[in-house]
Amino acid sequence: MGKDYATDSWTNVGPSVLEKLERRLHLQANHPLAILKAKIEHHMNEAEPGVYRSLDSLNPVVSPKLNFDDLLFEADHPGRRPTDTYYVNADNLLRTHTSAHQSTVLRDRSSRGYLLTADVYRRDEVDQTHYPVFHQMEGIRTFDRSQFAGQHMTEAEALAAMGVKDGAKNPIQRQHTPAEAAAVALHLKSTLENVIKNVFASEKGLQWRWNEEYFPFTSPSWELEVLYNGKWLELFGSGVVRQEIMDNTGNSDRIGWAFGLGLERIAMRMFNIPDIRLFWSTDERFTSQFRAGSISSFVPFSKYPPCYKDISFWTPPTFHDNDFSEVVREIAGDIAEEAKLIDEFTHPKTGRASRCYRINYRAMDRTLTNAEVDEVQERLRQAVVERCGVELR
Ligand code: DAH
Repeated sequence: MGKDYATDSWTNVGPSVLEKLERRLHLQANHPLAILKAKIEHHMNEAEPGVYRSLDSLNPVVSPKLNFDDLLFEADHPGRRPTDTYYVNADNLLRTHTSAHQSTVLRDRSSRGYLLTADVYRRDEVDQTHYPVFHQMEGIRTFDRSQFAGQHMTEAEALAAMGVKDGAKNPIQRQHTPAEAAAVALHLKSTLENVIKNVFASEKGLQWRWNEEYFPFTSPSWELEVLYNGKWLELFGSGVVRQEIMDNTGNSDRIGWAFGLGLERIAMRMFNIPDIRLFWSTDERFTSQFRAGSISSFVPFSKYPPCYKDISFWTPPTFHDNDFSEVVREIAGDIAEEAKLIDEFTHPKTGRASRCYRINYRAMDRTLTNAEVDEVQERLRQAVVERCGVELR
């Protein structure tokens, strides 16, 4: 992206991920992610005209301060670990969420609302709904606190109004009056419910639910889930922004809500896209199916057969699943559809731990030959030994 960064002992981002930084799928007019982004922006601008400013080109390389500290992440929060996050070096990382830009945009007090869309990066497992890069839209909305000054509510009334069952676990912040917290939370919930009703307008009998959640940067907090193929699928995290964040960005006079929504999850449902790798496809049979402004159902062009290969090894104590996933991604790229742990045991005498993974190889656009998969699997076996310190069995 036109800038040099020195590597150091924190560097854990590899070439296959770096390549993705320049793709900017959410800015390609006929891409499903861009179509979804435009649909939500359009809906939000109709709901509250002139309130939301859209931003979609912020640099994915941010400091740990922006991604974590400014959002009040605890010093030992697992999200900070290099097993979960891609570090460019000790001082720079690939944003793990769009919330990384909250403190920057809040400091600029010229707008009461933001819709911020971006690619985000996380080290994660390998399957049809997880990919090291995905896209989020962050919504932020702030209100002048003085407008709630005349309103009174008891804490119990406010918790009941916003649907919080346990006020000790998911509290109203001590800096907020119950009435203002409830007003902001209800605005948040109705805004998000209207977003999903709009996005899934064609689906009859859509089922969704609010779960109480914990995020370091909001309280109370919730996530919203929709029912998909009999499973609850998490679509957003959201909540009332911690007042310390408002205070630290020069907004003591304001109170706000924020949400972060996963665009792929929603787009997979809307467009019937069965595998998250397809979003990255440059195959014309994928790209030619979508047109700006229209929601169409994806017509699969491939049911190419999968090819399974197992790999088992003794693991060192430092072994982490995500390190293994990363090697699979670097070596096999997008022909790895899933890497699933199928067996795990500890030897009763030696105490050594063993793991067995089944790798499902499948290309979106062709049938893989056994010889080709064998060659990839062999390179994977060597790379896991070198990079994860395992002993093959
Ligand atoms: N950043 C969170 C994530 O990626 C999602 C989120 C939760 C964003 C709550 C928010 C929020 O703005 O208020 O998991």
